[in-house]
Amino acid sequence: MIDLHSHILPGLDDGAQSLAEALDMARIAVDSGVRAMVATPHCMEDRAIEVWSAVQLLRNALEEMNIPLRLFMGMEIFGTDDTVRLLREGKLFTLNNSRYPLIEFSFRSSGDAETDILRDVIRAGYRPLVAHPERYDYVREDPELINEWKRMGCLFQVNRGSLMGRFGNGPRQMAGALVERGFATVVASDAHSARMRTPWMGDVLELIAERISPTAAEFLLLRNPVSIIKNEDLPPVEPEWF
Ligand SMILES: [Fe+2]
Repeated sequence: MIDLHSHILPGLDDGAQSLAEALDMARIAVDSGVRAMVATPHCMEDRAIEVWSAVQLLRNALEEMNIPLRLFMGMEIFGTDDTVRLLREGKLFTLNNSRYPLIEFSFRSSGDAETDILRDVIRAGYRPLVAHPERYDYVREDPELINEWKRMGCLFQVNRGSLMGRFGNGPRQMAGALVERGFATVVASDAHSARMRTPWMGDVLELIAERISPTAAEFLLLRNPVSIIKNEDLPPVEPEWF
């Protein structure tokens, strides 16, 4: 598996708080079958050098400790009116320098500002991967937003924790619907620590394989993430619209 959303870089955000914890998270990921991970610390402004340095530090530590996890650079970008400019200036990173930025939004909003931001990002030539849409109140209240964002060209990343019910019933049902209806492109851990919200992906692999199909699990957890980090096109999927 390849995990496209993780807060494994130590000391940058509310994720790993030390190098030791980052290494524990890497071991958990590897033990569950993850072979590569994109480090995606929360960013909305220029943190390029900080993120780049932390990735180098963790890559060296993984090699020294013989932990077979490939680490790629990315960010979980909090979408604002400045997102396009900062992406163009190289101050915000997409996932492994691809055309695919991982973009999150506030949990409570109307959805209108988010639609405008996503439209600008697409017009600038990027293909946004919307982080955990199932966790946003306004998306659950009005899933028509998902139809609209999909028609615009957005991709969707669903959290493992949402599918497993860690964020309550609403996000669990919405996450299930996004996967079952063919809207989800990727399922990722959004791991924040080695104890709670860990990068363990074995359970969600089983869940998707049983509930939908082993092929769906392969696309969501391996093939689509590979295409994204290689900056390749994704197979077109016609979802079952909301
Ligand atoms: Fe995250």
